[in-house]
Amino acid sequence: MPNCYKLARYIAPKMSNQLQTEAVVQRSMTDSKGSVIKVSHLTKRFVKGVKSAAVNDVTFEVGREIVALFGPSGCGKTTTLRCIAGLEKPDAGEITIGGKVVTSIEKGIFVPPEKRDIGLMFQSYALWPHMKVFDNVAYGLKVRKLPKDEIEKKVKSALQTVELTGYEKRYPAQLSGGQQQRVALARSLVYEPKVLLLDEPLSNLDAKVREKTRIELKSLLSRIGISTVYVTHDQEEAFVLSDRVIIMDSGSISQNDTPYNIYRHPANKFVASFIGRSNLVEGNIISVDSDETEGRAAKGVVRVLGNYDIECSFPSTLHAGEKCLVTVRANEVGLYPTEPTFAKTVQCTVVSRDYKGSMTDHMVKVGDTMLVVSTHRFCDLNKVEGEEELDRKHYLHIRGDSVSIVPFE
Ligand SMILES: Nc1ncnc2c1ncn2[C@@H]1O[C@H](COP(=O)(O)OP(=O)(O)OP(=O)(O)O)[C@@H](O)[C@H]1O
Ligand SMILES: [Mg+2]
Repeated sequence: MPNCYKLARYIAPKMSNQLQTEAVVQRSMTDSKGSVIKVSHLTKRFVKGVKSAAVNDVTFEVGREIVALFGPSGCGKTTTLRCIAGLEKPDAGEITIGGKVVTSIEKGIFVPPEKRDIGLMFQSYALWPHMKVFDNVAYGLKVRKLPKDEIEKKVKSALQTVELTGYEKRYPAQLSGGQQQRVALARSLVYEPKVLLLDEPLSNLDAKVREKTRIELKSLLSRIGISTVYVTHDQEEAFVLSDRVIIMDSGSISQNDTPYNIYRHPANKFVASFIGRSNLVEGNIISVDSDETEGRAAKGVVRVLGNYDIECSFPSTLHAGEKCLVTVRANEVGLYPTEPTFAKTVQCTVVSRDYKGSMTDHMVKVGDTMLVVSTHRFCDLNKVEGEEELDRKHYLHIRGDSVSIVPFE
C-alpha cells in the first residue's frame, strides 16, 4: 500500500459531532505547566540485547511552541517522532498528548495513531499526482466517510490556512515545490490536530525553494499557533523555525535550549563541535571568579594556544586549574596583517586561503594548532588577500565574547 494511503488512514480519525466538539475543547488543553506533549524516559531498541538503543531514556516537553529535534543522521530523531505518533511502540517510557497518556509501557497503555489527535508530515509527502489539490486534502476525510458538506468546509479552511485558496482544481504538477509542500501541510491540518509532527518536510526541495518555503512555513506555523515538533538535520532550519532546539546524539539528548543559548553556551563537546563553524582548542583555566551572578556565567580567564589569555564567562561547574575545551568561532576572530595596537594578539601564519564569495576561509597555524578563520571583505584582512601574503606572519585576536567554554572530555 503506498505510503500516503497508509498515512491518510493513520491520521484520519473517525469523529462524531460530539467528538469533534470535544476535540475543539481539548485543543485548548495543556497541563498545569503548559505542556502539550510530554515525553518521559522514552527508550526504543530495535535490536534486542544490543547495548546501544536508537532512543535512550529521552525526556522533554513541548508547550505551545515549535521545537526542533536536531542532530546527525541516525541519532534517533525520526524514531522519537514515530513514538510520539504511535507508529512505534517503545520499550520503556511514557508519552502524554494534551494531558492524555497515549503511551505508557509501565501502565500497559498504547493509544493507536488515529486516536492521538496528531497531524503528521514526512519528507516523502508525495501527493497523489492524479488527484486535484482539493481531493488530495479531502482524501482522508472521504476514507472516513465524513458528510460531503463537512469535508468541503474542512478542506476549504485547511487550504485557507496554508494560503492556497483558489488552487483547489490544480493538479500537483501544476504547483511549485513550495506550494506542493503546503498542500501536504493542509492534508495534515485538515483533521484539526492538537499537535503537528513534521519530519524533514523541506528536505526534498532545492536550496532556493527550501529557503523561501522555510520562511513561509515559519509564519504559517506561528499564525496557526499549534504545538509542533520539527525534525531536521539542518542547523539553519532548526534555528530559524523553532523556539527551542533539542539536540540529539546517539539516541540521547545533548542539549535542550533556545537557539541563542545553544550557539552561545553549548553544553558539551558534542554540541560545541556540531553547531556552527567552530575551532575546538584545549585550554587551561587560570582563574574563575567565585562571585558568580547567574547559574552558568562565572567570569574568568582561560589560557589557550600556548600563552594567550582570554577573559570570558565560564559554566559555573568549572574551576581554576582544570583543563577545558574552548570553542573559537571561525567568523568571530580578528586576523591582522600587522600587529594592532588596540588588542592583545597571538602570532600566527596563514597557511592557505579559500575564497567562498561572501566570506574567505583562512587556515592559520599557531604553534602546532591549526584554526579556520573566516573573514568578510569589509574587515581589515581584505588588504591581504593576495597569494603573496601566505606563509607570512599575521596576528590573531580572540575576543572573550566570541568563545564558549565546555568541560574537557
Ligand atoms: N526499523 C528499524 N529497524 C532497525 N533499526 C532501525 C529502524 N529504524 C531506525 N533504526 C536505527 O535506529 C537509529 C535511529 O534511527 P532514526 O531513523 O531515528 O535516525 P534519524 O536521527 O532520524 O536519522 P536521519 O537524519 O538519517 O533521518 C539508527 O541507527 C537506525 O539505523
Ligand atoms: Mg530521520
